[in-house]
Amino acid sequence: MGSVFEPKGDTIRYLTKCAREYGDIVFFRFLGVPACFVNRPDYIESVLVTQNNNFVKSKDYRAMRRVLGNGLLLSEGEFWRRQRKLIQPAFHQGRIAAYAEIMAGYTQQMLASWSDGQTLDIHEAMMRLTLGIVAKTLFDADVSHEAEDVDAALAVLMGKFLRQAGLALLLPVWVPLPTSQLLKRAVGRLDKVIYSIIERRRASGQMSGDLLSVFLQVQDDEGVGMTDRQLHDEIMTLFLAGHETTANVLSWTWFLLGQNPEVEEKLFEELNRVLGGRVPTLADLPKLIYTDTVLRESMRLYPPVWVIGRRALSPFRLGEYELPADTNVLISQLIMHKDARYFPEPQRFDPDRWSASDPRGASLPRFAYFPFGGGPRVCIGAGFAMMEAVLLLATIAQQFRIQIAPGQQVSMQPSVTLRPRNGIPVTLRRR
Ligand code: HEM
Repeated sequence: MGSVFEPKGDTIRYLTKCAREYGDIVFFRFLGVPACFVNRPDYIESVLVTQNNNFVKSKDYRAMRRVLGNGLLLSEGEFWRRQRKLIQPAFHQGRIAAYAEIMAGYTQQMLASWSDGQTLDIHEAMMRLTLGIVAKTLFDADVSHEAEDVDAALAVLMGKFLRQAGLALLLPVWVPLPTSQLLKRAVGRLDKVIYSIIERRRASGQMSGDLLSVFLQVQDDEGVGMTDRQLHDEIMTLFLAGHETTANVLSWTWFLLGQNPEVEEKLFEELNRVLGGRVPTLADLPKLIYTDTVLRESMRLYPPVWVIGRRALSPFRLGEYELPADTNVLISQLIMHKDARYFPEPQRFDPDRWSASDPRGASLPRFAYFPFGGGPRVCIGAGFAMMEAVLLLATIAQQFRIQIAPGQQVSMQPSVTLRPRNGIPVTLRRR
């Protein structure tokens, strides 16, 4: 089990081997801490949905606490419920529709700086783009000057996360996790970006109806508003959860398209037919059906969030198995999405398996594919992310082919998210 948390160990291969050799449920005692790895759709549904009241986030999420504090991803109980209710309206269908123009506009701006034959790291470009979009749409903030700081800090945090998560699972919660100077500096840099957004808005007093205005105006029953610390935690959570994940989907999609020219051709054909050179708008989304299946299939092979963890408050049952209280349950999208029982030829990039006329999709159990999680803690930004991913993919692929150098090695870095370890160097070709 130690190899799961070794940054240099092959975590993914190890978990795959566990699932394939030991089956649907694998129980460990990890230096006395009970943990089980669950690989069956109905068991996953049981943990995330049916028995969700018996579960909180697993102890390893604590490794994110010094960055995300008590924001929506990590909070629990009444506090979480209240914050979710407060934030939810910003993600309602009607509201996110208004974000479409900003998404396409920011992408156009990026493309204006691209040229034929240019080489760049496409993952870095996607991270910048999605960071700008989440900051503008949710907090009406311009972070273009701080983007480099955010990228650098995230690289440090992501590199250190697995080991921190392993320690967090083992150590009692009252033992602080060790911190290196590098990690402290990285967290400090991110904090500076967030606090400067809050400060600027407090100073301007401008309330534009965005999420930050809502946060600044909200009061509890005693008339007390959110503290700067709470504001920081929610903004940081939405920034990080909302940009790195979507950037990962797009980066891996470019990587897959670069290796599958027949899929790329089909995508270009749809974009030509539906858009004919126009910038896509919200009204085009229902017609970009193949584009949507390309993204779905990309998230099957490279789920941006590759693992979810829960801890049981009291003993529970999964099928015929009785499990003790305090068990940490590990659920991996990455492993489940490649299970040949549900996905024939699991390694093949085949967007058509998601087409409405394909019988393979109809027989799929609910939790064989769950890139956004499920139950009450399902991703709040799923609609936002899918709209953004379709719009960005369509806008960029209309103008450029992203060429991956032949034989280019790109490996997965399983951290909080599943990012390409050293980016993805590409050459841009104007279409
Ligand atoms: C393709 C992109 C995305 C993927 C794959 C993704 C995936 C997920 C998953 C799997 C969870 C559940 C974690 C758990 O159960 O422990 C989650 C939660 C969350 N996501 Fe996303 N996410 C994406 C985009 C976004 C965006 C765009 C935002 C916001 C702008 C966002 C904000 C959040 C938040 C705040 C939570 C915590 C929700 C709660 O516990 O109430 N995500 N996401």
